[in-house]
Amino acid sequence: MAELFETEINLDGAPLDAHGLRAAVRDCDVLVPTVTDRIDSVVLSAASPRLRLIANFGVGVNHIDLSAARARGILVSNTPGVLTDDTADTAMALILWTPRRFAEGERIVREGAWRGWSPSAMLGHRVTGKTLGIIGLGRIGRAVAARALGFGLRVRYHQRHRLPAAAEAEAGGAVFHTSLDEMLPHCDILSVNCPLTPATHHLIDARRLRLLPPHAYIVNTARGEVIDEAALADALADGVIAGAGLDVFEREPEIEPRLRLLPNVVLLPHMGSATFEGRRAMGDKVITNIRAWSDGHRPPDQVLEGWA
Ligand code: 8YV
Repeated sequence: MAELFETEINLDGAPLDAHGLRAAVRDCDVLVPTVTDRIDSVVLSAASPRLRLIANFGVGVNHIDLSAARARGILVSNTPGVLTDDTADTAMALILWTPRRFAEGERIVREGAWRGWSPSAMLGHRVTGKTLGIIGLGRIGRAVAARALGFGLRVRYHQRHRLPAAAEAEAGGAVFHTSLDEMLPHCDILSVNCPLTPATHHLIDARRLRLLPPHAYIVNTARGEVIDEAALADALADGVIAGAGLDVFEREPEIEPRLRLLPNVVLLPHMGSATFEGRRAMGDKVITNIRAWSDGHRPPDQVLEGWA
């Protein structure tokens, strides 16, 4: 970007606070935020009238107030597609690691607490043959389904609209549920792959956690806020569900303290898309969006309000 544009770069990668963000938007044509930058109406009200494009480095745009941007005539773009496989790999890893207790096993070895093989040591649950419920069979959800099929899982899904038959067939004959409540009792594992919107905030709450069978595991690689984290900690501590694999949290980098103490939880530091290849491709997409816009075209990855 520095070669192509006159840039001001937050080089150390530490998130800017509201004051830093207001200063950043005061004098630019294009802003390139990440998930840690909260671009709300207060920040946008400090923006230079020259600010016309927010080219987000990432696919989720829940940290950007889209209607405030639209009201100011600011376009928003994101980076879809290039982090699909990496994120789906992370979901699949958690789908394997959580029921099989791999993280717990790794800790035991690392801590020098392993006393050798025994017939009943470290027993977990088999994934093959189980049912995976996916909330959001979009790009990433479908990539998770494709992986899950290879591991012998059956797929069900819930989202606003049913997919065409061909897409369901590609997801191994995925069974659609109009009602999330109706899908949950069928899930041995639940994977959250929907965007965070006002409609999906705390979609998984205390009541819905109780609709899952007690042997169920929940995996989240989307956004922490889709699950009520305190209710999840209660459910895990009380045996309402069997375990959780989490790459995202409600108040990152803070984590509900009880989650850290529970052995049946696998915790990752929002690293779903953290590959060298993915980051480079995300950067390329950001640049493509800015170039198209500066050449007078629509950014190819323009985000429209209400897209999710
Ligand atoms: C990104 C993500 O790395 O793209 C997303 O929505 O959650 C991450 O994997 C992050 O958002 C970068 O801004």
